[in-house]
Amino acid sequence: MPADTDALFTPFTINKLELPNRIVMAPMTRNFSPDNIPGDNVASYYRRRAEGGTGLIITEGTYINHPSAGAYENVPFFYGDQALAGWKKVVDEVHWAGAKIAPQLWHTGIMRGVGGEGATLEPYPNVPAFGPSGLLMPGKEIGHAMSLDEINQVVGAYVQAAVDAQALGFDCIELHGAHGYLIDQFFWEGTNQRHDAYGGSIAKRAQFAVDIITGIRAKVGPDYPIIFRFSQWKLMNYQARLVNNSEELEQFLKPLSDAGVDVFHCSTRRFWQPEFEGSDLNLAGWTQKITGKPCITVGSISLEEDFLDENARGISEHSEPASIGNLATLLKRGDFDLVAVGRSLISNPDWPKLVRAGRESELLAYDQSDLTRLD
Ligand SMILES: Cc1cc2nc3c(=O)[nH]c(=O)nc-3n(C[C@H](O)[C@H](O)[C@H](O)COP(=O)(O)O)c2cc1C
Repeated sequence: MPADTDALFTPFTINKLELPNRIVMAPMTRNFSPDNIPGDNVASYYRRRAEGGTGLIITEGTYINHPSAGAYENVPFFYGDQALAGWKKVVDEVHWAGAKIAPQLWHTGIMRGVGGEGATLEPYPNVPAFGPSGLLMPGKEIGHAMSLDEINQVVGAYVQAAVDAQALGFDCIELHGAHGYLIDQFFWEGTNQRHDAYGGSIAKRAQFAVDIITGIRAKVGPDYPIIFRFSQWKLMNYQARLVNNSEELEQFLKPLSDAGVDVFHCSTRRFWQPEFEGSDLNLAGWTQKITGKPCITVGSISLEEDFLDENARGISEHSEPASIGNLATLLKRGDFDLVAVGRSLISNPDWPKLVRAGRESELLAYDQSDLTRLD
């Protein structure tokens, strides 16, 4: 018997933004934008997910306008006439198909200094990797500790990107504050050893994000939704934790919530795992309880394997489909409001339509080879 998934298909409103259902496409870097320009193939790729019934699309990470922002090849810019014209097409096609869309605004921070396959410093080869303290990991300095001027410049670049997103017709924006990239490097004490207004207590480590959120809010008005993505885990350390209990989580979230975040996107690798001992709430459940704001959950929805392979230290090669299980139950219970689907939407552009029709058993497995095509 197919799972009862009706709860996934009820509308939801964020401020004045009406979403047709609870299904969100998780942001996924695809590296299909030569010269950092999103082309027609990128627009068609997102349109297909909108046609497949996704309510809200969050785009792949897209670089804000600072020479230090990038680290990887063929990632689209969110600045410059050509890239913005490419994004406008993406917005128009997704809207035509009936979905809403947010760009994920990204600065890779110290990850720019890591190198490896798919990495590039182009088009600014002489610009170093930026971080709050130049650290990749505790004790491992590989980049440049940002000055206060540089912090202000990068904050300004985030704000400009949000203003441009609104002008292009994006319905909301997402700030990438997760996974060990720049904003998260400020959050984590392992990479933030500053002694000024941006380092020290968890609230001070959140100040960089607060500046960005406040700056954006002042320009986009009270209703334009700001989604904030955060995670405990980091790409350079899957076991890292920003907070160890709900009290610490509250100290971390309060300044962000007060600054004007509308939706928290709580990035976990397995949505069903409780975050802290003594309760079955996951990270999104706790975040919603603490802030009272809508939350998105994510992680291995309809897949057996987590997206990161602990041994290979990269994206898992293959995952068989799995039952959606208790996702709809947790949604109905009110633990979170929205659910983001990642790899399964790459392999199944019509994931929402299939699930709604009770045809979950027809969902295809995710395979790494799916990443070689943008279809
Ligand atoms: C190919 C790929 C690229 C990703 N790129 C991003 C990204 O640009 N920004 C981000 O926040 N997360 C990124 N992620 C993480 C996903 O948004 C999502 O959290 C993760 O895949 C877990 O969801 P899933 O198990 O449904 O795939 C990426 C994941 C994959 C598989």
